[in-house]
Amino acid sequence: MSAERLRYTVRNRFPGEHLVRSRGNLLRSVELMAATDPDLAVAKTVVGRTILLASHPDLAREVLTGHPRSLRKGLGLQRTRFVLGNGLLTSEGEFHLRQRRLAQPAFHRERIARYAEEMVARTEAAAASWTDGQVLDLARAMHHLTLDIVGRTLFGVDLLGRAAELGKALTAVLDSFSIWLILFGERLYDLPIPRMRRAKQAVPALDAAIYAIIEDHRRSGRDQGDLLSMLMAARDAEGDGSGMTDVQLRDEVMTLILAGHETTANALAWTWWFLAQHPTIDARLAAEVRDACGDRPITMADLPNLPYTRAVFSEAMRLRPPAYATSREVIEPIVLGGQEVPVGAQVLVSPWVTQRDPRWWTEPLRFDPDRWLAPRAEPNHRHAYFPFGGGTRVCIGEQFAWTEGILVIAALVRRWRFRLTIPASAVRLQAAVTLRPAPGIPVVCERRP
Ligand code: HEM
Repeated sequence: MSAERLRYTVRNRFPGEHLVRSRGNLLRSVELMAATDPDLAVAKTVVGRTILLASHPDLAREVLTGHPRSLRKGLGLQRTRFVLGNGLLTSEGEFHLRQRRLAQPAFHRERIARYAEEMVARTEAAAASWTDGQVLDLARAMHHLTLDIVGRTLFGVDLLGRAAELGKALTAVLDSFSIWLILFGERLYDLPIPRMRRAKQAVPALDAAIYAIIEDHRRSGRDQGDLLSMLMAARDAEGDGSGMTDVQLRDEVMTLILAGHETTANALAWTWWFLAQHPTIDARLAAEVRDACGDRPITMADLPNLPYTRAVFSEAMRLRPPAYATSREVIEPIVLGGQEVPVGAQVLVSPWVTQRDPRWWTEPLRFDPDRWLAPRAEPNHRHAYFPFGGGTRVCIGEQFAWTEGILVIAALVRRWRFRLTIPASAVRLQAAVTLRPAPGIPVVCERRP
């Protein structure tokens, strides 16, 4: 197919049409794009940039795993460097590979098994602090819990204890990561928008907190067995043998705190929102956990005996993928789906779109964990589910997140049932850096008999 085709397949009638029609709602905007071509849609942004949305699973896979030298992280992520620096999420090329090699051992199976104990202990502590009839925002509770877990497992510190210094700064930074602001109107980035200004002002507070954690570790002088100790001790045996500077350590710590808690927190918050609407599924889930684990502490060894719990978490991330869109920028022309894609174009893949496409999922909008279990075993295309991305940039925390998600659900569901205090439809989707429930998940806690 000739390069000419690209010009003719730009389907929006004026630049930025999808964003304008969706009134700035990115989820709606990708849906509108997908409606013009369910496999590979092409549009122009308000600033005239070419945007592609690869929704066919084969094409999404190609974007995530193919063309590693021709694609780099999209503009959205590049713009987060003002806070994430050159950490795992944002770095590129050889440097990224080296950092990934250094961090990888912290995510090996036997390490995750150790973290699992902490995950359950922190969850049990949270569950024990609630009372029957208490009103709670579960979205907030899940944020606290996952921040606590990341802090204790990866850095050996009590991040919740530092919540006062970290909390406001983290919120300011996360609020600025609205992808549509950055991706579709990137010039806005340098304008004095209050949200951007607040985020930039928050960075020194975050820096101070993170350098203090690094300094504490260094002063203690012993290997505490956590990721930070490993990163500090690491020497790149396959590379030049050097270790990491404090600035590199800071960038990795910042990245792992942000990437490691916000995503899982939202995945869990939405899981409870679904369960509150489906009492039969909720009861079956509680029964599975009771049968497999009784009343003793849950461990990683229980995971194979909790298939329904895994199915529930999979299904929640299918319909509410925390990382609902990922983008790449073309730095060398590529051919994708027969189209020549020019340098500077942004190529999006969206689990939000592909994971609810009726070609791969039966009754795609229904919350139905059974679709993951035999004999159904959906999806009908093996690459139609990718909440953790793929290829060399696949989420390094994927196994951590599956373990955490399943253990947290299991540990809470056997003690508590949650009833929404507002209609389920009043909980809106907020497409921020991840897919958040707004205004939260307000529930009443009911002790399970
Ligand atoms: C449900 C939970 C999670 C989801 C849905 C998720 C999703 C993702 C996705 C889609 C990417 C790839 C982004 C891209 O290709 O541009 C990614 C990368 C990453 N995630 Fe996660 N993540 C989750 C949990 C975690 C956890 C628990 C950690 C750490 C403890 C983590 C750390 C990272 C890091 C460091 C990267 C960058 C990896 C690299 O490029 O080498 N994530 N995540």
